[in-house]
Amino acid sequence: MAVRVVILAAGQGTRMKSKKPKVLHLVAGQTMLHWVIDAARNTDFADITVVVGHGAEEVQATLPDDVQSVLQAEQLGTGHAVGVALEQLGDVSKDIVLVLSGDTPLLTGATLSRLVALLKRTGSAAALLTAEVDDPTGYGRIIRDGWDRVVGIIEEQDASATERGIEEINAGIYAFEGALLGQGLANIGRDNAQGEYYLTDVIGYLSGRDLSLSGLKVDAEETAGVNSQRQLAQANVTMRTVLAVEWMEKGVWIQDPSLVFLAADVEIGQGARLYAGVHLESGTKVGKGASVGPDVFASGSVIGKNARVWYSVLRDAVVGEGAEVGPYASLRPGAVLGPRSKVGTFVELKNTELAEGAKVPHLSYLGDATVGESANVGAGTITCNYDGVAKHRTDIGKRAFIGSDTMLVAPVRIGDDAVTGAGSTITRDVPDGSLAVERSQQKEVPGYASRLQERRRRKEQT
Ligand code: UD1
Ligand code: MG
Repeated sequence: MAVRVVILAAGQGTRMKSKKPKVLHLVAGQTMLHWVIDAARNTDFADITVVVGHGAEEVQATLPDDVQSVLQAEQLGTGHAVGVALEQLGDVSKDIVLVLSGDTPLLTGATLSRLVALLKRTGSAAALLTAEVDDPTGYGRIIRDGWDRVVGIIEEQDASATERGIEEINAGIYAFEGALLGQGLANIGRDNAQGEYYLTDVIGYLSGRDLSLSGLKVDAEETAGVNSQRQLAQANVTMRTVLAVEWMEKGVWIQDPSLVFLAADVEIGQGARLYAGVHLESGTKVGKGASVGPDVFASGSVIGKNARVWYSVLRDAVVGEGAEVGPYASLRPGAVLGPRSKVGTFVELKNTELAEGAKVPHLSYLGDATVGESANVGAGTITCNYDGVAKHRTDIGKRAFIGSDTMLVAPVRIGDDAVTGAGSTITRDVPDGSLAVERSQQKEVPGYASRLQERRRRKEQT
């Protein structure tokens, strides 16, 4: 019995009060829908079909190649949505149909495997996830008979006062015996408070035909559906701990898991250290033994083995093995730091490569530049890379020594072992091994201080 996965994601998500389709909101840098797809992949699935409607094209654009979609042009309810999917899936009579919602990002693959196993083991017509919650408001309630068997689901809007008191809720996640799902859908109507075809009515229908149903009670947090910004934030908080724990189990040291924000796809090497206030956004990799934070924001960046980065912002940057960054550095796209190089306090780099051991320790801006091996760029150095029309390159040779407060007016090349005098504005290439100084001669005026004092005294007397 192959598992055919159907993920419902056509609803508008009105309560999010956002233009973005609900299932595309991010939890740990990954869409809620993607989390659900990942969970489904843990079952022995044959295919995954996402039912799209609101923002269909936007949602379709995010789907992995092996996930198909089907359009539910008009959202007539969850039962209708599954019906639309079945039309595309064709014959499912020998399959299990696993129905999921695109808005339950915390759902795990392990739970789904258990649900499918339960259906197979019991030979039930359907198995569904339920949870006991303190506040069941908004959820469908599970109706059980005198033998504690699931016999139906009643939606909040259709429930009596007594039924509303039931604290066991329907998580909206089901495994159906394919043939019976089709029959059930053919037999439900929309004569209810919302005028919708409820998938939940299939459960009542199957029970009415004396078919057995299984409920699997799971942790309410795991199956929580996100319907509002508040619930989205809560899901992010929960996921943060889940991810931090996974990394700690792999030997990453985390100072305070509640203050570290890790995207789903980051990679962190064993023995790396993450201090409080670290945000590792999508596409970021941290090497073994690296030390990151306090207070680092890194997106799409690579931090090499044993590097140290603190109080800094990295966007599409590469920090080499054993390199040092910060405090207060900004590495913009194309900043590539060689092994054991250094970018220090209040330094900004854009599209600039530092070779091994090169240093830019203080108060500098380097853009569209290369800095050779072991070169030293003095405090206050700036590459004047933009002439108001176009950007130009600056190349600094190996072991060059750039004096403090040098303006490097690009395009310009400073040779290997060359030196620039502090305060120089360099507009021409400097040959290898030469010193370039560009500044006016210093003058001394002897006795100036006493003349100044004399002038002040006279002013006071008048
Ligand atoms: C649904 C269940 C409820 C359960 C709850 C769990 C029904 C009738 N009710 O209610 O018992 O407690 O989930 O979270 O099923 N969708 C479509 N097409 C539609 C309607 C909905 O694709 O025509 C999708 C939505 O995008 C969403 C999912 O189905 O991903 C659930 O719909 P939603 O409106 O959130 O249902 P609930 O009212 O939460
Ligand atoms: Mg919902």
